[in-house]
Order: sequence, then C-alpha cells, then structure tokens
Amino acid sequence: MVRTYEAAPGIETLTTPFPIPGYGIVPLNAFLIRGPEPMLVDTGAVFESEDFVRVLRSVIDLQDLRWIWLTHTDFDHVGSLRPLLAANPQLRVVTTFLGAGILSLAAPLPPERLYFVNPGEKLTIGGHTLVALRPPTFDNPCTTGFFDEDSAVLFSSDCFGALLAEVPDRADQLRAEELSEGMVFWTTVDAPWVHAVEPGAFAAALDRIRRLQPRLILGSHLPPAPGHLIDRLLGSVAAARTAPPFVGPDQAGFQQLLQSLASQATHASPG
Ligand SMILES: [Fe+2]
Ligand SMILES: [Fe+2]
Repeated sequence: MVRTYEAAPGIETLTTPFPIPGYGIVPLNAFLIRGPEPMLVDTGAVFESEDFVRVLRSVIDLQDLRWIWLTHTDFDHVGSLRPLLAANPQLRVVTTFLGAGILSLAAPLPPERLYFVNPGEKLTIGGHTLVALRPPTFDNPCTTGFFDEDSAVLFSSDCFGALLAEVPDRADQLRAEELSEGMVFWTTVDAPWVHAVEPGAFAAALDRIRRLQPRLILGSHLPPAPGHLIDRLLGSVAAARTAPPFVGPDQAGFQQLLQSLASQATHASPG
C-alpha cells in the first residue's frame, strides 16, 4: 500500500515498504514537489501503479502536474509513468537520451513529452535551480539525480538506499548501526560494481556530494534523511566498497527459503 507524508514543507513522500523475503524491507519512494510547476520525482513501482495514482490524486490534481523527473527507468520508478502522461497532456518527462531510449523498448514517448538533461546541466523549474547529477552509486546507466540549489535538497535516486527491518518516516529515527548496516547491504546489492572501483575516484565522487552540504537527502530507498546525517550516509556507501559482495540464494537456498516461508505461514495462520 502506498502512503504519503510530508518530507519537508512543499515536498510529499509517496512510499511503500517492499518486503524482500529472508532479508528485510526496502522503501520504494517517489516525491511530489509542490510549487508553480509541480513536479513528481519518479512514479512508483509497476506492481502497484493503480494504488500509486490513487494516492497521488489525494495530494494533487493530476492536471496541475507539470513535470516528472525520472531518475531512471527501473520497474520501481516507472510504474505510473504511462497512466500519468495519458491523464495529463501537458506533463513532460525529464530524462536523458539513454533513458528515453530504454523507455522506447516498451513504447516510444512522443518527443514533445520529453526533456533531456545530462549530469552537470541546470534546469529551472518553479523558480528553483536544479542541478542534474550522477550519484556516486547507481544501478542503471541513465540514472540522473539532482540537487535543488535553492532549497539544498538532494534527490539521490538509488544511492543512499537501505535494507531495513522497519521503515520509519525519517532516517534519523533509525539506530545508527541499523542505518549503516542497512545501507552497506543495499549498496552491495544495488551497485555490485562498487567493489571494482578505483578507491580515489570513488572517494572523490562521495566528496562532491559532501561539498553540496545538502539540508535534506531524499533517496528512492531510504526514509528522508536530514542533512546532519550526511557523513554517516557517505561513510556507509564508502564502506560498501570493501564489504562482502552480495550473493543471493542459489537453488538449494531458494528451496530452504520457500520452506521457511511456508512454515512461518503455517504458524501464523489461526487454525
Ligand atoms: Fe534502480
Ligand atoms: Fe530503485
């Protein structure tokens, strides 16, 4: 179930807790930025598109939306893209040439619905200057987050995600170890290439984020994180580089997982 709450004045979080059997929960977040040109950052997951649109309608008239900033084209980000574009002919999608190309593998979007931005470029929307950036970690080559220079809010896409036991409304409600461990695990899952990066180049990428001094970090898979957590967030992503690589269950492990889920279901059922 998608639910919504205010991440900061003028920014709604639309979130759903996505359980990963045997591991924990990953929040799936999208964000609505209010203002003269309302913008949605990502569009929820494919499996719950109807619910996402219903909840979005509860916080904004779809006809008022002007922009969708699509941080990348994964299934947990494009869920309601097509229905929202169909519902509002004025709505345009901020993405990259590569993002549009990947979307065209499902069905091309008309050129007038697209707006291309590359990392490093600026875009003024609703009076705010948004600087597009490639976050230090990502799982899709078209990934483009952004930093709002006026509000100092960082939209980091899949970077700074965490696997959690429960998902609070703010990242600073998590115990420090739970946040760090959940982030290291997530990063090894989402960016398995992190073990192969040149350490100096990776540290420089993390430093570029540190220098932004974000007041709020809004990641796709972490509760909203106030700026005072930035060193912890960056330290956790840095630690993923030397953490054990993630290896998912093999077939024997999968069978075991299915058995344990079945026995949990038996014990949980009332009769
Ligand atoms: Fe992703
Ligand atoms: Fe994602």
